[in-house]
Amino acid sequence: MNAKAPQESRTIMTDLVLPSETNPLNNLFGGELLARMDRAAAISARRHSRRIVVTASVNHVAFNSAVPLGSVVTVEAKVSRAFRTSMEVFIDVWIEDRESGARTKANEAIYTFVAVDETGRPVAVPELLPETDLEKERFAAALRRKQLSLLLAGKMKPQDATELKALFE
Ligand SMILES: CC(C)(COP(=O)(O)OP(=O)(O)OC[C@H]1O[C@@H](n2cnc3c(N)ncnc32)[C@H](O)[C@@H]1OP(=O)(O)O)[C@@H](O)C(=O)NCCC(=O)NCCS
Repeated sequence: MNAKAPQESRTIMTDLVLPSETNPLNNLFGGELLARMDRAAAISARRHSRRIVVTASVNHVAFNSAVPLGSVVTVEAKVSRAFRTSMEVFIDVWIEDRESGARTKANEAIYTFVAVDETGRPVAVPELLPETDLEKERFAAALRRKQLSLLLAGKMKPQDATELKALFE
């Protein structure tokens, strides 16, 4: 399997915030944003692996800024690292100023997807070769995040989490 660049999985979804998608403060409902991010990230993981993909975990979500009713929201997803069958996908969320068109970063998230066959069994994915400084930074930290996610899910023993132990040495 040939290695791929993050750019090949880049997925951009732009949509409005409508009244049915808001909370009582007239800002975007958190669950709606999670769903939009999941969709964009799933397409990104599928573009990288060219396989059926399933969400294995939501590793991190930061709702740093409220997204007001009527906003134009852009969700941008890219695979940040591929392991054997799993892929970490980084999602950046932007809102666009109506008058100037300037984009402001509102939120970000990190999801993990697993490529599977038609029976749901995990299958191998191509390697990812980061290119830009930001892609290299996200790639380097991804193993630590994978170990943390597995640890929290009870799928890894603390003594096997080498990257996390190294943080405290
Ligand atoms: C995701 C799923 C395929 C993993 O199955 P599994 O039996 O744990 O398979 P494995 O142990 O072989 O793990 C497969 C990969 O997923 C990774 N993984 C599993 N759980 C993970 C977690 N919580 N966080 C990070 N990575 C995880 C493993 O590390 C492994 O990665 P690697 O092959 O790249 O090293 C399985 O749990 C599943 O089908 N879950 C339901 C998915 C779904 O329906 N999602 C939508 C929810 S509504």
